[in-house]
Amino acid sequence: MTESVNFWAVVPAAGVGKRMQADRPKQYLPLAGKTVLEHTLNCLLQADVFSALAVAISKEDPYWPELDCSRHEHIITAAGGQERADSVLSALKSLSAQAADNDWVLVHDAARPCLTVADIRQLINTLQQDEVGGILALPSHDTLKNVAADSITQTIDRSVIWRALTPQMFRYGMLKQALQAAEGNPAITDEASALEMQGLQPKIVEGRPDNIKITRPEDLALAQFYMKQQAQQREQQND
Ligand code: C5P
Repeated sequence: MTESVNFWAVVPAAGVGKRMQADRPKQYLPLAGKTVLEHTLNCLLQADVFSALAVAISKEDPYWPELDCSRHEHIITAAGGQERADSVLSALKSLSAQAADNDWVLVHDAARPCLTVADIRQLINTLQQDEVGGILALPSHDTLKNVAADSITQTIDRSVIWRALTPQMFRYGMLKQALQAAEGNPAITDEASALEMQGLQPKIVEGRPDNIKITRPEDLALAQFYMKQQAQQREQQND
């Protein structure tokens, strides 16, 4: 008998995005006619696999209630926390009445609006029979250096280095427990690192390089370019 599990999405969207030097958090900056966050949520909704999306929003956030999607029937608002991991844990807790321990959760940064449905499907199809789960990631193409002060101390073997992206896909119960065990630990900058602390070895699935995180002002122009390119690719596929 095949096991019946639900899929949930968790979107941490409670950061301030200081490096953008903007008048509002980066998830609310305009991008191709919508906010960054609306693009992100639209992609997750379009995937048509999630029972609901739990979005972690800061208490002092005046922008979220202004968006129509804050009232979407498949979107749940949770309280944001001090760090990203606290926001993710809070969003997971907001699902506790509905989600089963065995269900899958895909955690995706609000600040990655160029995610594609194809990448969501690739992650799910590759990992849904896995014991632990895993993440989208990209191999490093640059040569990497260890640096002390302003001098190179060592060149790192880049063949074993991957850059962690999101979504990151784990079982609801395992992920909640791992994040609770790691609470307050500043080294937990993604979900996989919390699972690794439990001695587990999450898988990597190669993602698309256009799944960028908006971090600096110039990233918005790049995201706009990638979105245009994705729209053209979709048109060509439909021809
Ligand atoms: O700051 P950074 O780009 O690493 O944040 C990644 C994601 O985590 C963003 O979508 C941001 O809104 C979210 N975040 C959060 N709660 C925090 C800090 C960041 O939800 N306390």
